[in-house]
Amino acid sequence: MKIFVVGSGGREHALVWKLATDASCPTLFCAPGNAGTAELGTNVAIAADDIDGIVAWAAAERPDLTVIGPEVPLCSGVADRLIEEGLRVFGPSKRAAQLEGSKVFAKEVMEAAGVPTARSATFTDSDAAKAYIRREGAPIVIKAEGLAAGKGVTVCASVAEAETAVEAAMCENAFGEAGRRIIVEECLEGPEASILALVDGENCVLLASSQDHKRAQDGDVGPNTGGMGAYSPAPVVTEALWPIIRDQVFGRTLAELRKRGITFKGVLYAGLMLTPSGPKVLEFNTRFGDPETQVILPRLAVDLVPLLDACIDGRLSEGMLRWHSASCVTVVMAAAGYPGAYSKGDIIHGLDAASALDGVMVFHAGTTVKADQIVTAGGRVLAVTALGHTLPDAIQKAYAGADNIRFSGCWCRRDIAAKATQAGGGI
Ligand code: AMP
Ligand code: GLY
Repeated sequence: MKIFVVGSGGREHALVWKLATDASCPTLFCAPGNAGTAELGTNVAIAADDIDGIVAWAAAERPDLTVIGPEVPLCSGVADRLIEEGLRVFGPSKRAAQLEGSKVFAKEVMEAAGVPTARSATFTDSDAAKAYIRREGAPIVIKAEGLAAGKGVTVCASVAEAETAVEAAMCENAFGEAGRRIIVEECLEGPEASILALVDGENCVLLASSQDHKRAQDGDVGPNTGGMGAYSPAPVVTEALWPIIRDQVFGRTLAELRKRGITFKGVLYAGLMLTPSGPKVLEFNTRFGDPETQVILPRLAVDLVPLLDACIDGRLSEGMLRWHSASCVTVVMAAAGYPGAYSKGDIIHGLDAASALDGVMVFHAGTTVKADQIVTAGGRVLAVTALGHTLPDAIQKAYAGADNIRFSGCWCRRDIAAKATQAGGGI
């Protein structure tokens, strides 16, 4: 069994780590991978967004299964191209991936399907957007329509700030093509949670809940990042919310896609705000989350390959999944300067000592091997992850792992999952 994973982050290392334990004993390849995936398989020097390169490699090497991590290749149609080559691929088609690639499309689908989400309007003209903002008042949220590496959303406390965000996206091209159309959205309040689901075209099975920490600094302040840490389960997702999320968010969205002739296969990820009037969708992603995957997969008590195969073949069922009751926490260690410009090539010390700790797994994100040493190669460098009997136990273990690791200028948030320890439960 030969499996090909596309991507190079902490998510892909977690996927490769989980796949490596599969009963099918697969041989693993990862493009382009990182120093962590290189320890479990073979890295292939092709960028994740080099669609022609990925397709050419897969067409020649014939993996039994290809798993696509990031959104850019999915939105460019890599899954469709691989299927045309007669290959088995886990990840949605280009049409289905529009749910992430175009926030306008996602809003249209949600509105048509009656999925609870923030009230919004779409603009291609900045003066019209500003007039709408002045009528609506602040706080208000400005979103670039396309993919912007998690940076296209500005939550604005004042009308002036919102007008500046409109200028940046539409007139100064801060997000390039992605910001030519914008969505102006009602500002929602409440705790956030990520709910991911496996989808086989027809059936949809929700995965364990999790919560990400998008802001750079403790206390959820500072600039937005790709995610500074996560935990699972998220106790804010109470038992009572699950059927609502399953039916009103996933059920309705997938039914609307089917009505439009779009079959969704892969992971559908809903970023939710749990408002006083119920869960509302902030965004859809059409792939595994990063860093959510790093806390979901360690809790999965069954092999992953049969689940991915079942999605491809349209025979997924709830009974195929089982979860460890343990809690999982991941703390992202970042390079100095991230999410702005950061240095690369710094030697990372203490990886073995951290991994040797009970329950600790160090997932690599921005790392590479240089002259036999593991060095930094990205803004988010590592996702230090731990399983614990309780959330406080997992927090303590994850930070014990992180405290063993050093590289020049390394930093992490010190409050990952702290808020959740005040609540109980969660699935
Ligand atoms: P997104 O990339 O759409 O998930 O947005 C990034 C972050 O912006 C979210 O995690 C929220 O914290 C915030 N956000 C997005 N949409 C809204 C909204 N309508 N109201 C309040 N905050 C929002
Ligand atoms: N954790 C947010 C994302 O994967 O986009």
